[in-house]
Amino acid sequence: MSERRRIILGVGAGIAAYKTTSVVRALVKSGFDVWVIPTPASLKMVGEVTWQALSGNPVYSQVDEPPSGVGHIELARDASAILVAPATADLLARIAHGIADDMLTNVILAASCPLLLAPAMHTNMWENGATKDNVQILRQRGARFIGPATGALSSGDQGIGRMAPEDEIVSQTLAVLGSGSWQDQKVMVSAGGTREPLDPVRFLGNRSSGRFGIEIARNFALQGAQVTLLAANIDSALLASLPANIAVISTPTAAQMHRAALEQFPKMQVAVMAAAVADYQPAEFQAQKIKKIPGQNEFSLQLRPTADILADLASKKSDQQLVAGFAAETGSWDQVVQLGQEKARRKGADIIFINQVGESSGFGDVTTRVSAVDQQGSEIGQFAGDKSQLAAQIVALIRRQVQ
Ligand code: CTP
Repeated sequence: MSERRRIILGVGAGIAAYKTTSVVRALVKSGFDVWVIPTPASLKMVGEVTWQALSGNPVYSQVDEPPSGVGHIELARDASAILVAPATADLLARIAHGIADDMLTNVILAASCPLLLAPAMHTNMWENGATKDNVQILRQRGARFIGPATGALSSGDQGIGRMAPEDEIVSQTLAVLGSGSWQDQKVMVSAGGTREPLDPVRFLGNRSSGRFGIEIARNFALQGAQVTLLAANIDSALLASLPANIAVISTPTAAQMHRAALEQFPKMQVAVMAAAVADYQPAEFQAQKIKKIPGQNEFSLQLRPTADILADLASKKSDQQLVAGFAAETGSWDQVVQLGQEKARRKGADIIFINQVGESSGFGDVTTRVSAVDQQGSEIGQFAGDKSQLAAQIVALIRRQVQ
C-alpha cells in the first residue's frame, strides 16, 4: 500500500462531474492517494482517461474490472475517507438503501471510514420527499453533507441543488481527514453590529449585516479551526448557514462583546474583530419608553464611550497570538487607506483590513475592496471581491502571518 493516505472519490452522473476534476487535483496536490470511482453512467460526463491522468491511479467503475488484489473490499479497507461529488439523487438513494450494483456502491457498503457527500441535482429532486428521507437516513448513519449550494442550475432554473464550490468540498474533506491548514487551532471572530439600548424599544445601531464576519468564521472552520463567533444581532438564517461546529456567543451590545472577548481571548491563537462596534452608548438606559414632548424642537442624548475591544485585545496579546481588525472608512480610496493606516498605528493590532464603506458599498451584499496593513501601517496585501472571496483571501493572509 502507498505511504500516502487514500481517498476514494466517487463520481455520480451529474453535469457537475466536470468540476470534480479540480477536486481531484487539489487532493492529489495535498498529498493524498486519490482513487476515482465513477459510476458507469457518469463516464458519459467525464471519461476514464481523464480521471486516470489526474489521479495517477487506475479507474474502475464495475466490480469485475480490477485485477485480483484491488477489489472493492481492498479499496474500502485502505480508504481514509470516501467523498462522493457529485452525489445524484439516484446515488443517494442507492447508498441509503444498501444497493450495491457498481464498484462505487460496493466500496461504500464495505467501508467503515468517514463518508462525505456533495449532492447535485435539480431543486425539485432535492426537495422531493424520497430524497429528503434518504438524506435523513444517511445523516443518521454519520454521513456528512457538503452543500448543496443555491444558484443557477444546469436546467436553467435557479434554486438549491448546485454542487458546493470545489474549494469548499476540498477544505471540508481535508478537515475531516485532520489535514486542514487551521486544524484544531482556536480562532475567535466577531461579527455583526452592536445595538446600544436607549429604552425598552429603541437602540443606537448600525447597518452591518454580519456577512463578512460570518464568511471569515466559515472559512476558518472549513479549514479545521475551532471557531468561536461573537455574534452581534445577526440574522438567524445567516447564523443557521454556518457549519455546526462553530460555537456562537450572542453579544448584542458593545459591553457584552467586550466581556465575552476578554473571557475567550486567553484560549485563542487568533482573534479577528470584524464586528461594527458602537463607539458610544447612551449614558443612561431609560427603563420606560422615552416620550415625545409636544412643542420641543430639540432633543439631545447623552452618550459615553464604549471600550475599544480590538485595542484592548491587542494590548493584552502574547507573542503567540495574532489580533486582526477592520477599519471601515468613508471617502475616496486614498483617504480611506490613510485613515486605515492611522487606525492601524493607533490600535496596535497585528493586521488591519481597511475597507471603504458608504451608502452603497461595504455593508450588505456588495463587492468590497480591502487593503491589509500591519501595525506600522505598511501594506501587506490588497484584494477585491465579494465577501466570501475576500474572506478566503483574508484567512490565507492571516495564515501566512502566523507561520
Ligand atoms: N472596534 C472594537 N471596539 C470598539 C470599536 C471598534 O473592537 N468599541 C473594532 C472593530 O471591530 C474593528 C476596528 O475596531 O475591527 C475598527 O472599527 P471602526 O469602527 O472602523 O473604528 P473606530 O475605532 O470605531 O474608529 P472611528 O469610528 O473613529 O473610525
